[in-house]
Amino acid sequence: MKEIKRIGILTSGGDCCGLNAVIEAVVKAGTSKGYEVIGYKMGYDGLYNNDYVVLDNNTVRTIGPVGGSIIGNSNKTNLFNHKKYDKDGNEYYADDSLVAVKNLQNDKVDALVIVGGDGSMTSARDFKRLGVNVICVPKTIDNDVPYTDQTFGYSTAVSQIAKSIEAIKTTGFSHNRVMIAEVMGRHAGWLALEGGLAGDADIIIIPEIPYNLENIVEKLKERFERGFKSTLICVSEGARPIGGECTMIIDKTSTDGVRLGGVGTKLAYDIENLLKPITGQTVRCTNLGYVQRGGTTNHFDRILSFRYGSFAVEKIAEGEFGVMVALRGEHLVIVPLEEVVGNGPIGETSHGGTKNVSDDADLLRCARSMGIYLGE
Ligand code: F6P
Repeated sequence: MKEIKRIGILTSGGDCCGLNAVIEAVVKAGTSKGYEVIGYKMGYDGLYNNDYVVLDNNTVRTIGPVGGSIIGNSNKTNLFNHKKYDKDGNEYYADDSLVAVKNLQNDKVDALVIVGGDGSMTSARDFKRLGVNVICVPKTIDNDVPYTDQTFGYSTAVSQIAKSIEAIKTTGFSHNRVMIAEVMGRHAGWLALEGGLAGDADIIIIPEIPYNLENIVEKLKERFERGFKSTLICVSEGARPIGGECTMIIDKTSTDGVRLGGVGTKLAYDIENLLKPITGQTVRCTNLGYVQRGGTTNHFDRILSFRYGSFAVEKIAEGEFGVMVALRGEHLVIVPLEEVVGNGPIGETSHGGTKNVSDDADLLRCARSMGIYLGE
């Protein structure tokens, strides 16, 4: 087994709370084993530009509770299919993975901790195939990474959602309004479901259960007649009507060319058109946006991040690479990256699967049995 002297870490994809806690744990656990730790700045961009900083116990002192990442994140940089611009500003794509591999060799990095979601882990899998000793830590507020019970960052985002919904409810109550809170989560409904439950939402709409506009309006009318003059609807950004599509914003700067978002505003408009003539209620939407990704990391995410980071270092010492650390019940385990993100060809982002809210999810059972309407 190769002796480990130096490990690198990068934080990739959209940020979330707990990234700094993972960095702190990797640095503290790594230095206690005698490893030097360096952090590549701005995710895979830092790996490509060979832009890094040496991290020691002093650098990471007190960063655990702070949201964001002290080494920065780049969203969606894929060095195997690297978007670049020529001198005339025209976009082109290049495979720059070997630049990164060379940098790692020159920097004498023996193992690389990649903290990211499915896209970042797809690149990690591809770097593994080029011989890089990678180990991944599952990050995302969306909690949609398969083979782990929970990603870090999710719990804090749920707390942020709950807190925001509680505030929105009080103003909705004063105005007898229907209030809509749109939350993130991509095509998985975890954030809306758990955040909505925790914040005491009356209706929760998730991507896994396409909604029926007329039925929602009927439910609101019924509630009004029973004396519930205000209603809080928590909707996932990836929600869609039965037989319809998700609501998206065109964004040429993003890899897919589109970004999810806007379903809350659309619903507010559609519901008000049908409901106001009957109950007189107006409908307002708040998109909770990036509030969900920031703030102070809650204690659950701090501990989960510490556990993930320190476990990754233990696995590095044991020579376990090409894996993701994962939470299974009370225990941490490792899962091969090919299981997590699939086994597609190098250079191609292939998704092994998104962890969605299944029909038998306990949270769904809980919501239903508490009388929360799910928009069907
Ligand atoms: O994956 C995390 C996430 O916050 C999603 O919930 C959301 O759709 C997306 O990132 C937003 O990404 P960006 O930072 O590119 O706007």
